[in-house]
Formats: sequence, C-alpha cells, structure tokens
Amino acid sequence: MFLGFSGGIAGWGTICGALAAPVCLISGVVADKKLREEMINELMAWYIHHPFPEYQPAGLNLPKVAVGSTLCHISVSKWVNAMDPPVTADSKEKKARCAGVSGDTAKKAVEILNAYADTGAFSATHKPDPIVASCMGCHKESAPPFTQGKENCMSCHGSGLINIDDCESHRDLL
Ligand code: HEC
Ligand code: HEC
Repeated sequence: MFLGFSGGIAGWGTICGALAAPVCLISGVVADKKLREEMINELMAWYIHHPFPEYQPAGLNLPKVAVGSTLCHISVSKWVNAMDPPVTADSKEKKARCAGVSGDTAKKAVEILNAYADTGAFSATHKPDPIVASCMGCHKESAPPFTQGKENCMSCHGSGLINIDDCESHRDLL
C-alpha cells in the first residue's frame, strides 16, 4: 500500500515516502483534529532537524545528515552529495539510507503515539524553521501573493538558490 511512496512518490521527489505510513497511522488512530495536527506537525518538524539515518542494520557507517526539508528531492540530494565521494540515488548506500530514514521515522511516530497512550497528554518539542512564521506573517493572508506551507522558505527562495546559469556545464543548454 505504501510502496508507491518510495522516491517521494514513484521517484518524483515530492514528500519523503518515509513520512507517508507514519502520517496515515497517526491519522487513523487519533480522532481529535487538533491533537492529530499537533502530532503530525511534531513528526514533520522533527524530520527536518533529525540527522538521518540512525537505524543502520547493514553497518555501512553512513553519514548522518539533517536535511532541513520533508521533500524527498531536497533530502536525497543533500544526502547523496554529503557522501565523499558522492553516490547516485540508485546506489546501495542511498537505498540503505532511505530504509534507515523509514525505520527512524516509524519509530518516532510510535514514540509520539505511545507517549500519548501512556500519559493521555502530548506536548510538541519540534517546530518549523522560524523563517516560516516571519514570511507567513504576510503571505498567509495580509499581502498577496498568497501561499501555504511550513517548509523552510529559504531552501528555495533563499539567496543560496541554485542557479543553473552559474554552472559551466549548463552553458549550451541556455
Ligand atoms: C512585510 C510583509 C512581507 C514579508 C515578511 C515577506 N514578504 Fe514576500 N512579499 C511581500 C509583498 C507585499 C510582495 C509583493 C510585492 C513585491 O513583489 O514586492 C512579496 C512578494 C514575494 C514573492 C513573489 C515576488 C518575487 O520576488 O518573486 C515571493 C516569492 C516572496 N515574497 C517570498 C517571501 C519569503 C520567502 C519571505 C520570508 C523570507 C517573505 N516573502 C517575507 C510581503 C512580504
Ligand atoms: C521546495 C521549494 C519551495 C519552498 C520550500 C517554498 N517555495 Fe514558495 N514557491 C516555490 C516555487 C517553485 C514557486 C512558484 C514560483 C513561480 O512559478 O512563480 C513558489 C511560489 C511562492 C509564492 C508566490 C510567488 C508569486 O510570484 O506568485 C510565494 C509568496 C511563496 N512561494 C512564498 C513562500 C514561503 C513564504 C515559503 C515558506 C513557507 C515558501 N514559499 C517555500 C518554491 C518553494
């Protein structure tokens, strides 16, 4: 049922597939809308800050990298190029890394649900990047153009934006 989410949905690099099953699990068992959203927010915000992969059963000693995004494209691109030398997205290292990310994310979701089941309470400890509140202060409803989202706005709109014009290898494409 969740296999189609691999590679950020059939390799499209959208939402990290490791989040799909845990988000469905939380949605399936937590009826209260506010609580459910708080738990999912916690999982998403934890994901962007967590140095993955912690779970490494194959013992490949893979680097643990916090990727700052829940998007598969950003998560995978940052990780494969943090390897020295870089590995491709088809490499066994990347597959082991994403399997580890899935294990870590499922574990986190279970921890969130277990803590709630044990105590009857839930308190979030992770938050989106602070830049989100600052940008959305205007773009949510006070000044067009309007948008929605809690990803780090600067991953894409920041000054470090990757510009293909800057790269010699792209000269003939433009
Ligand atoms: C004080 C209100 C305010 C804040 C805070 C703000 N913006 Fe804007 N933004 C605007 C307004 C007004 C426009 C449209 C007018 C313009 O283009 O100058 C705009 C335009 C934009 C556009 C479309 C225009 C373009 O440059 O392509 C983007 C994208 C954008 N903002 C992103 C952001 C991001 C990311 C942040 C946070 C780092 C942010 N904004 C913070 C008010 C704001
Ligand atoms: C994954 C990359 C990505 C992230 C993260 C992202 N954006 Fe965008 N954003 C885009 C793209 C691509 C567009 C469409 C730009 C276009 O075609 O004009 C866009 C459009 C917008 C627009 C409308 C611009 C216009 O001219 O109509 C605003 C405003 C905006 N984003 C603000 C934000 C804010 C605020 C955040 C953080 C909460 C954010 N974005 C996060 C990539 C991103």
